[in-house]
Amino acid sequence: MNILLLGSGGREHALAWKMAQSSRLSKLYVAPGNGGTSEVAENVELAVNDFPSIASFCQAKKVNMIVVGPEDPLVNGVKDYFETNEQLKHIAVIGPDAASAQLEGSKAFCKKFMQKHQVPTAAYQSFTANELEAGHAFLESLKPPYVLKADGLAAGKGVLIIQNLAEAKAELKNMLEGKFGKASEKVVIEEFLDGIEFSVFALTDGKNYVLLPVAKDYKRIGEGDTGLNTGGMGAVSPVPFVDAAMMKKVEETIVKPTINGFAQDQMNYTGFVFFGLIKVEGTPMVIEYNVRLGDPETEVVLPRLKSDLVELFEMTANGTLDQATVVFDEQSVCTVMVVSEGYPGSYPKGKKITGLENVTDSQVFHAGTTLKDGELLTSGGRVMAFSSYGNTKEVALAKSYASINKVCYEGITFRKDIGFDL
Ligand code: AMP
Ligand code: GLY
Repeated sequence: MNILLLGSGGREHALAWKMAQSSRLSKLYVAPGNGGTSEVAENVELAVNDFPSIASFCQAKKVNMIVVGPEDPLVNGVKDYFETNEQLKHIAVIGPDAASAQLEGSKAFCKKFMQKHQVPTAAYQSFTANELEAGHAFLESLKPPYVLKADGLAAGKGVLIIQNLAEAKAELKNMLEGKFGKASEKVVIEEFLDGIEFSVFALTDGKNYVLLPVAKDYKRIGEGDTGLNTGGMGAVSPVPFVDAAMMKKVEETIVKPTINGFAQDQMNYTGFVFFGLIKVEGTPMVIEYNVRLGDPETEVVLPRLKSDLVELFEMTANGTLDQATVVFDEQSVCTVMVVSEGYPGSYPKGKKITGLENVTDSQVFHAGTTLKDGELLTSGGRVMAFSSYGNTKEVALAKSYASINKVCYEGITFRKDIGFDL
């Protein structure tokens, strides 16, 4: 089987690394990939949203399957593009169609879906610009802090959590007037949930599903979870506060109603479902769905998956995931992300990375790196994730930190407290 993977982050390097281990794989391409994916696959210079060029490439190289890393091409309809074309529809796209990707692309769609299928989530209402007064009235009915969410994709910046009512009212007005462009033409206001967050991932064929190992990521740039939100600074799997009983609750009250909801609503959903969850007084609730894997969660989840991922993708495409068995590694896997100085604000690129050949105890997944004239250079905010196995998370983390100490580039920055709060 020939596979094209779309994307260029640490998540995609981990996906490529895992798929490359499969006996089912003949050839793996990654578009556009990064300095790490080129070690396990062939990078192709194609933009993830350039569907006509992706289609020509797939035809020329006899690609049988496209695996989609990021949400963008899904929201833009990459699955629809292939399925509605006679010449392309034999190529399986692992990911939901555009309508189903609205679960991530529109907070209002997502909340409506959860309400309809009785998936536990925060109470909410949504508002447009001509409903400002109703929005203000709804804010007055809530207790602080106030949670305001731009309806559309806003590069992870569209959620505001505000303590003060007057400020929340002013921000609602700003958002409806275009603070996040089109993404905040509609705003979801919801009840604040007080708890601890974790991530659960399922792979589904639209009717059946398998669960992947549970993970927790660390979103803030600063130690002690302070400072600005990032794409993610590290992750651990398993998660000590998510035991078997909690996972059973998640599966019964959240995963099953969600997958049954896909079937009931006749959604064309294949691929990953990312349940962004919060444990509130012992009860799991959904903060958000994403229609892809998380980053850096993937860098701890896939190393714990013993089963053949390509085989699971084939079952996903064939609608036979009910026959799948998934085996996890019982060890802990932790990952620590090294980033560029200044991230998530502006940061320099093109810094030379040295010392990777000395790393033996960790799997390094590249995120923002590029190969230029045989040299490995930084090319993004998040640069590399250092993932390690251990019988305990402490052992795994110690390995990741020791590995990071062997690597250097100007301005290397990372959190030293990943997993320490658990
Ligand atoms: P989202 O983009 O919906 O995942 O929101 C981003 C982050 O905002 C989440 O990871 C939570 O930390 C926080 N958040 C979102 N909604 C709520 C809520 N209802 N209560 C508390 N925190 C929230
Ligand atoms: N780590 C969170 C995300 O991928 O959205």
